[in-house]
Formats: sequence, structure tokens, C-alpha cells
Amino acid sequence: MRWLLFFGALIGSGVCSRDKFFGDQVFRINVRNGDEIRKLTQLVNSDHFKLNVWKSPSTFGRPVDILVPSVSLLPVKSFLKSQGLDYSVTIEDLQALLDNEDEEMKHNEGRERSGDNFNYASYHSLEAIYHEMDSIATDFPELASRVKIGETFEKRPMYVLKFSTGGGKKRPAIWLNAGIHSREWISQATAIWTARKIVTDYQKDPAVTSILKKVDIFLLPVANPDGYVYTQTQNRLWRKTRSRNPGSRCIGADPNRNWNASFAGEGASDNPCSEVYHGPHPNSEVEVKSVVDFIQNHGHFKCFIDLHSYSQLLMYPYGYTVKKAPDAEELDDVARSAAAALASHSGTKYQVGPTCTTVYPASGSSIDWAYDNGIKYAFTFELRDTGHYGFLLPADQIIPTAEETWLGLKTIMEHVRDNLY
Ligand SMILES: *[C@@H]1O[C@H](CO)[C@@H](O)[C@H](O)[C@H]1NC(C)=O
Ligand SMILES: [Zn+2]
Repeated sequence: MRWLLFFGALIGSGVCSRDKFFGDQVFRINVRNGDEIRKLTQLVNSDHFKLNVWKSPSTFGRPVDILVPSVSLLPVKSFLKSQGLDYSVTIEDLQALLDNEDEEMKHNEGRERSGDNFNYASYHSLEAIYHEMDSIATDFPELASRVKIGETFEKRPMYVLKFSTGGGKKRPAIWLNAGIHSREWISQATAIWTARKIVTDYQKDPAVTSILKKVDIFLLPVANPDGYVYTQTQNRLWRKTRSRNPGSRCIGADPNRNWNASFAGEGASDNPCSEVYHGPHPNSEVEVKSVVDFIQNHGHFKCFIDLHSYSQLLMYPYGYTVKKAPDAEELDDVARSAAAALASHSGTKYQVGPTCTTVYPASGSSIDWAYDNGIKYAFTFELRDTGHYGFLLPADQIIPTAEETWLGLKTIMEHVRDNLY
């Protein structure tokens, strides 16, 4: 019996064969000037340390977070010391965090298998999220429906939830996107919580009711399903898609450098092995193309919000240029109100600003594409935390994160409702 359970768990989650990170650590490096950024960029780009960047060097003095494999700990430390770079260790035992996360998920899967409802305070498989989307649509058939918008590179379906009170009529619409970077698990978890929140609060919270009276909401909780499955079966820290790159041993492109907005410009790489590889051409990643086609065929999107983690930032265009967006002032006002609403929940502080000058230049991003294609209210959230757990935010922070984020999202959606154009 025990063995059966054991093998069941093996087959169920596949987690046992996942990459291990024994002895690996995450370093936070403080950079104070251009010279230090140059030194750090040199370190990050040297292939033989096998570093994984969690938070990139930027030109604006943000600290940098880097995953250092155990074999590179000594040489990296001595490099940092010799260059006079100031660092601390933010995650001492990465594998311990991964083990806790695994254990929590397995425990929860067991409970859900034995009949419990979907537990929003846990991380889930793609299959479980898709099943819950189906349940939401079944529970609220007048309000919600599950729509297939395409298939991934590995032929998985891509589903959105559509919330509409407009019968068959095409209304102005809001796009909520999450999980485009697969390892940012708090974003997919926040998105599915948000879906349930919309249906339960409709006709209870006047804000939700009045938003849905005028606009439709489309929510894509897992924008990179192949990547998400890969984070649960092979490598928890996978970020990109899983498409093949002819002529390279490296897999995938960064789906948030693949949109047709100053494609292949600053802040993206043409190296298929890079974490920010932009792909061979705009929309080369079918997951991106499916969203682009859907939004263009629809034709009435007014708002596009992309949920990422981590850093606690709320940003708006542009990422590909330091040039001010024509609507920068309005977007900044909206973002500041949203950040204030979010902070009112439990004091979580967000920084607000345009992507390029708040973090770093990034071309080919989703919100720049949206903005350049007439979707004025374009925002990126970088959810909790600021680096204590980074991508491995414990499951007990899912609901607090989703609740506070909801206040920010609602502020933006109310502004859209009142300022349709
Ligand atoms: C990208 O946008 C440009 C216009 O800015 C257009 O000419 C081109 O066809 C677009 N490419 C794709 C793949 O959509
Ligand atoms: Zn991201």
C-alpha cells in the first residue's frame, strides 16, 4: 500500500525527477555605479559559473539577485571580493525551500483528491487550474465561460475565462494576463484566485457589478503552459517557452520579449541560450501569437494587465525606450492610486513608474505591444516579494498577495470603466 502511494505520487507530480539545487544559494549584490554594473554584467555573462539571474542588473541602482550553484560559490565570492562588490546571501538553502513547496503541494493534492474543493491557498498543476476554470464556468454559466484561444508549442490547450454580462454583444474589454514567465508561480495563483473573486463578488460588490455592466473581462491565468508544466516536472526555475531553436541545443524564447514592439531592441538577446532570448521573429512563440490574434480579432480591448513576480512594482509603457508615453501622466496617476489601494490592505509597498526607467530597458514586451496597438491602459505588476523568497514565495502568502493585488486591479478596472474611449 505504501509503495503504491509512493509510485502514485511519483507519477502524479513528476517532482521526484526534477532538477535539484543542493547547496545552491541566492546572492543579493548591491550596485552603486556604472562601473559596478559593468563588473557584474561581466560576471553574469561568463558562462562557466552557470549563474541564473533572478533580478537583472539595471542602470538604476536596484540590487541584483543571482542564483549561484554550489560549485560556483567559492569562485563567485572571490570574484565579488576582488572587485569590491558588496553582497549578502538572501537564500541560504534553495533546495530546502523547494522541498517545502513540494511537500505542501503534495499534501494539498492528496486532500483535493479525497474530495476537498480547490484550495486557493496552494499552488496547483496546470490540469488542476484548468479544471477549476471549468468549475467556475459551470458554477456561473450566466457570467463566465471558458474559451480556448489556441494551443501551445507542445500542443496543450490555452484557456481564458471570459466574464461578461453582455449576452452576445461585443463590449469594450480588459485583458488580464498571468504566468507568461513560468517560474513566477504567484502570478498564476493570483490569477485563478481573481477569477473566483470576480464571480463571487458580482452583484455583491458594486464596483465589480458596475465594471461588468460596461466591460467584459478576459483572464488568461497560465500564459505559458508548457513552461509551467516544465517547472513542475523538470526545473522549478524555468522562465521561457519550450519551443525548439534550430541549430541550438538551448530551448525556448522569452515570451515577454517576443511581442511586436521594438522587437529585438534593447534589453533582449539574440542568443537562444539567453533567458531573455527574443525568438526568431515577432510572435514566433505560438503562445504569444494566440493572444495577439485573439485581441486583434476582438478589436475592443482597452486595458491589458500582465502579472509577474517578483519585486513589488507597478509599471506602464514604455520598456523599449526612455521616451515618455503620450499618456504617461494619466497612467502614472492610475498606477499610483492602484498602488495606494493595494497598500491599504496590509501595507505592502509598491514602486510605480515606466518600465524602462523603473527597472531596465526591455523590448518586445506585452504591455508595450498593447499600448502601441491602441490599448491605452497597459500595466505590469511585479507581485510579492522583494527577494526574501523571490520566485519561491511560500503558499501561505498566496491569499494575502491575491487580496491586496485585487484592490489594485479593481482600481485600474474602475478607471477603465469610467474612461472608455
Ligand atoms: C510588426 O509591426 C510592424 C509595424 O510596426 C508591421 O509592419 C509588421 O508586419 C508586424 N509584424 C508582425 C509579425 O506582426
Ligand atoms: Zn516575469
